[in-house]
Amino acid sequence: MKELMAANWKMYKTWDQASATASELAGLLHGKLPAGREVLIIPPFTSLKAVSDVLTPIEGLHVGGQDFYPAQEGAFTGEISPAMLADLGADYALTGHSERRHVLGEDDALVGRKTAFGLEHGLKVILCIGEKVEERKAGRVEEVLARQLEAGLADIPKKTLAENLVVAYEPVWAIGTGEVAGPDEIQTAHGHVRKKLQQLLPAIANEIRILYGGSVKPDNAGAIMALDNVDGVLVGGASLIAESFSKIVLA
Ligand code: PGA
Repeated sequence: MKELMAANWKMYKTWDQASATASELAGLLHGKLPAGREVLIIPPFTSLKAVSDVLTPIEGLHVGGQDFYPAQEGAFTGEISPAMLADLGADYALTGHSERRHVLGEDDALVGRKTAFGLEHGLKVILCIGEKVEERKAGRVEEVLARQLEAGLADIPKKTLAENLVVAYEPVWAIGTGEVAGPDEIQTAHGHVRKKLQQLLPAIANEIRILYGGSVKPDNAGAIMALDNVDGVLVGGASLIAESFSKIVLA
């Protein structure tokens, strides 16, 4: 299993800015990426092509979409299909990012439909899950993660390969706040995720990568990567600057 170091650029960077950051990153990582790690950049749709042109010719570097709609084509104004992402060079996509759930109002059922559809249509899918602060305070972390995993994976194809499915644990209270989860909190949550995957998908559970996301920075990435059941990171803010993200990738 290759560790996955992923950058979520959210709604940042124009075409030129994205292209410049991608070129800088390619230079910083040139010849340095360890064989056991892959890198994924997830820019806004508008700069996917700019970033994929620069990065995908390089071994171990991938680009992905932040979202997609679960249909092949049709009257879905403003939406984008898995095939359209692939056409721009993307092989991965996120589903269920906390901002899609809590700002854009996506529920567990829609996240499940997207996850299944993306896998059926050739994308590697990173299903994002995570509890809100009030759920953590109420002692409900394990229950929330279990519910999001059950709904998110309910309809995935039976023959899904472990390498095509990734789970990202991103506690909502740690995203963009500078408040990173502690090592015990990360390890415990990732343990819950692994256990639930073993129940839901016993044949592939131990090979599914589980990423941590939420205020990952160059100075905490190494310690987070060393934790049990952490197979990569999903980075927002600190991924926008090539130098800072390259330090995380090489941590
Ligand atoms: P952050 O975002 O690193 O800025 O906390 C993580 C994410 O939203 O994936």
